[in-house]
Amino acid sequence: MPEPLPETMRALVVDRLGDADELRLAAVAMPLRIADEVLVRVIAASVNPIDVKTRSGRGSSAAISSFPFIGGSDFSGVVAAVPYAQHPFPVGTPVFGMGRVPRVGGSFAEFVTVASTAVAVKPANLSHVEAAAAPVAAQTAWGMLQLAGIGAGDRVLVHAGAGGVGHFAVQFARLAGAHVIATASAANAAFLRELGAHETIDYAAQRFEDVVSDVDVVIDLIGNVHDDTGSRSLEVLREGGCLVNAPTGSWPTMQTDAAARGIRATGYNVPADGRMLAEIAALLESGAVRVHVDREFPLEDGADAQRAVEGGHVRGKVVVRAAEEPAL
Ligand SMILES: NC(=O)c1ccc[n+]([C@@H]2O[C@H](COP(=O)([O-])OP(=O)(O)OC[C@H]3O[C@@H](n4cnc5c(N)ncnc54)[C@H](OP(=O)(O)O)[C@@H]3O)[C@@H](O)[C@H]2O)c1
Repeated sequence: MPEPLPETMRALVVDRLGDADELRLAAVAMPLRIADEVLVRVIAASVNPIDVKTRSGRGSSAAISSFPFIGGSDFSGVVAAVPYAQHPFPVGTPVFGMGRVPRVGGSFAEFVTVASTAVAVKPANLSHVEAAAAPVAAQTAWGMLQLAGIGAGDRVLVHAGAGGVGHFAVQFARLAGAHVIATASAANAAFLRELGAHETIDYAAQRFEDVVSDVDVVIDLIGNVHDDTGSRSLEVLREGGCLVNAPTGSWPTMQTDAAARGIRATGYNVPADGRMLAEIAALLESGAVRVHVDREFPLEDGADAQRAVEGGHVRGKVVVRAAEEPAL
């Protein structure tokens, strides 16, 4: 018999937009599952830069319709309620995925509702903390490389290769047979090599455009937020090459600048796509790809978790734990 559901749950909320000090742990009403959604008991939720941006009044904050607001897209947990009897993810199934926050309540909470199409079965070899680190970052890396049309033998430059998205992009590009070059600080050079990077560039010591050329694809996870990284990337791409930029909005003239050099350029927005996630889950389960958790925090210390991501130098991912890992 499934456990009865509580009437309230613990969640990390803000009552107004602002810095991490605005976050507080609160008892709130359970999220209401509708239509095809599943209700998931959250074991762990990872922090993405978008959570920090939205909480501080940027990102997706324009779509927040009421307070208190619960942030957090990524989660891993156990299905607690389903819309119909023969659902493909029955109650008790370990699943991971990402929600469409702030259209729905976020995952920095003990329960979350999410469209059935946004979840996949959790890789059996990963803890919930590890699984929660994957959905947004891995799907972003996967989608950006797909959009670029990456293939074997391509020369790929990944900016911020040691971060959440980057550490998956390096591994996926390597699996696709690309020659992988990644930027990070010197402290992350060995980590990038372990992930499969052929070349690493310490962005603090070298201008990447001085040491790299003839690149087919740039996975730009920095944009013009820092030191015109996006604009400078055009100098290393071959004519006909492709730049995919994820911190969208930092470089308003990207399209025209790229077109002037005969380069394709595009932003990217990650979809909540359970089928894509299931393909990634198979790679995680086989060990072909791994997820790196830098630090984990209990839910009540979620503000510290967000401050860590705000610092901009996380290796892999930061995860918030809402409950103990269930016994296998
Ligand atoms: N549009 C979308 O759908 C989408 C989806 C996901 C993410 N994003 C965006 O993509 C960006 C990256 O996300 P993320 O989750 O990967 O971020 P993240 O994990 O917070 O990135 C941290 C990493 O950035 C590296 N870094 C910092 N400054 C750098 C520089 N100048 N050059 C190279 N590396 C640098 C750090 O390496 P060191 O510690 O070695 O400095 C660290 O490992 C964010 O802006 C995020 O909002 C967009």
